[in-house]
Amino acid sequence: MKNTVLTIQKQKNEHDKITMLTAYDYSMAKLIDAAGVNSILVGDSLGMVMLGYKDTLSVTMEDMIHHTKAVSRGAENALVVADMPFMSYQTSVYDAVQNAGRLIKEGGAQAVKLEGGASVVPQIKAIVEASIPVVAHIGLTPQSVNAFGGFRVQGKSEAEAQKLYDDARAVEAAGAFCVVLECVPAALAEFISSRLSIPTIGIGAGAGCDGQVLVYQDMLKMFSDFKPKFVKHFADIGQEMKNAFTAYIEEVKAGTFPAKEHCFAISDDIINKLY
Ligand code: KIV
Repeated sequence: MKNTVLTIQKQKNEHDKITMLTAYDYSMAKLIDAAGVNSILVGDSLGMVMLGYKDTLSVTMEDMIHHTKAVSRGAENALVVADMPFMSYQTSVYDAVQNAGRLIKEGGAQAVKLEGGASVVPQIKAIVEASIPVVAHIGLTPQSVNAFGGFRVQGKSEAEAQKLYDDARAVEAAGAFCVVLECVPAALAEFISSRLSIPTIGIGAGAGCDGQVLVYQDMLKMFSDFKPKFVKHFADIGQEMKNAFTAYIEEVKAGTFPAKEHCFAISDDIINKLY
């Protein structure tokens, strides 16, 4: 059964942890969906893990729509959330609604995610008024990497912790149905989770959140440029893939692949008639 904003909220109410993973293409969306993950995020992290940029700032609306379409085709049950890329909502409330609408209409997502707290409340309100569910994202918001001066933990001082809590309440009041807390001290994330009525989804925010999200290349050890402290490798698929590629090279060079069972037959008579 398709997960919806209602089933995600019900999970919080019933203390059933929400699971979210990123995906950027059809095949991976199908695998993640078949495993029973509640929600798939088409994150703008695709700029780094799929397209090789050093941050998420270069990702465009066209990139997001292209990948969201593929994921939507593969996600039967998981709620598909599409990220709004840098400058697709910061510029105006009008742009925010227009671009959120494109991710739903063209991409086939069921919800959009955007970064920021009190500063993006007008955008969240307008998108929600257009009947598009919104996931907010506070704490380490990667689109603000230049303003932050790097990727670093947020909310450690009293003033920062208060601001984060204020932002969480602001996005909830604006109508977001869920909020991602990224790189936030665990005790602060737990406090915020206990005070909000909407679910929190943590990444680098401890086990006290109502759910967790990870980038699939991180959890499968497929992305080796760097490893954030909060990432756990649940499998070493990167090494498995390298082993498979090496075996392929060896078998092709040795002439053992393709074998008979991989080939199409033709009668010798036909071959013998060729001149
Ligand atoms: O873009 C992304 O993948 C994200 C998650 C890390 C939350 O925003």
